[in-house]
Amino acid sequence: MKTIDLETYKELGRRGEYYKLATDPEFWRHLNPNFTITENGLVPPLDPIKVAADELAHVKHTLKKDGYFQLLRLLEEKEMHKLGRAVTILHKEQWPTPFCMVYDEFWQLYQRLALVLSQTMGKDYKVLPNFWVYYIDNNDNGSGWAPHRDRGAVSHLTADGMPTSLTVWVAINDATPLNGCMYILPASRDPNYPNNLQVQEAKRLQDIRALPAPAGSVLSWNEMLFHWGARSSVDASEPRLSMALGFQRADITPRETPLLDPKVLPTFNQRLSMIGQHFFRFGIHLNLSQQVISLGEQLSGLGEPIQVWDTVPYPGDEKYKASQRAGTVKPMYGPSALAYTGAPSAPATNNQNPIGSQIQEPAPVVTGDDHKDSSQGPWWKKIL
Ligand SMILES: [Fe+2]
Repeated sequence: MKTIDLETYKELGRRGEYYKLATDPEFWRHLNPNFTITENGLVPPLDPIKVAADELAHVKHTLKKDGYFQLLRLLEEKEMHKLGRAVTILHKEQWPTPFCMVYDEFWQLYQRLALVLSQTMGKDYKVLPNFWVYYIDNNDNGSGWAPHRDRGAVSHLTADGMPTSLTVWVAINDATPLNGCMYILPASRDPNYPNNLQVQEAKRLQDIRALPAPAGSVLSWNEMLFHWGARSSVDASEPRLSMALGFQRADITPRETPLLDPKVLPTFNQRLSMIGQHFFRFGIHLNLSQQVISLGEQLSGLGEPIQVWDTVPYPGDEKYKASQRAGTVKPMYGPSALAYTGAPSAPATNNQNPIGSQIQEPAPVVTGDDHKDSSQGPWWKKIL
């Protein structure tokens, strides 16, 4: 086994060689020693969690009626606590938290949802190359994504009214109205669902529904559903930690490629490539630094380009339109997808490595109020 050389990592960080750090699995293992990275992805799938027949019936009912479902506390709290530590450590080390997807455990969690996914997406369902891991800081600036539909360019239901693609969101810790839980406009209350999806608004505020979710809860919505992550508050006791991954039926045109087999974990390089491409893809919306976007560009070359076949720029996104006019949008993701190479941000002005300079040995144990002490790097604006 390769010997971990902490000083080498620190020196790479000081020199800004983030690509070398990011592509070294030992670096990630050092940050979170209790997690695994199976570099070739060849690890047997975990057994699915059983869901009672009446619960599955309710899932299907609410998906058809209102475009979403909730399975509260489906996953074990102990498992969520472990994942939460990894998210928090990456955040404190100033690495974008979607890098958690380098670890097997963040993918395997979704393998355990195979029963409910096969019941809603068909037994041969596929994984979309579309994910994020959220750390919504508990201050007055943190918030999730602004109101949107995940796939507003597609209006497609099965003959029996079921969705053909889903976003599956997991509460790693308790998501509350105070720390930025999810809100939705139920499909049955949305006059623009499913046939006028370009309109993204909720005029009758009383129809909006908050979805507080205890740790381990699984929330999922049809990608056409209007939803958002709320603003957090400094009065919240902890940040909101969550993750999301997309899925689709196998018998429809791919929404995005490469579609992934849920029984096989992506290789380490595939994971890095997808993480990197997401920085490109969402960088303009999330105000990511040029440093992160540049790292994303480098990492994206490690795997197959993500092609988005149906999406259109988010309506009203003035930054995106301005970038188009300025010629700074790079067509990396198919005919109409998002990529951004905007103006570079200011370089780091101190000796801190903007990404991952503060490596401690051993990796810090982070609990409770320690979260409030996490420093905010100049390169990473927490508006996820
Ligand atoms: Fe979304």
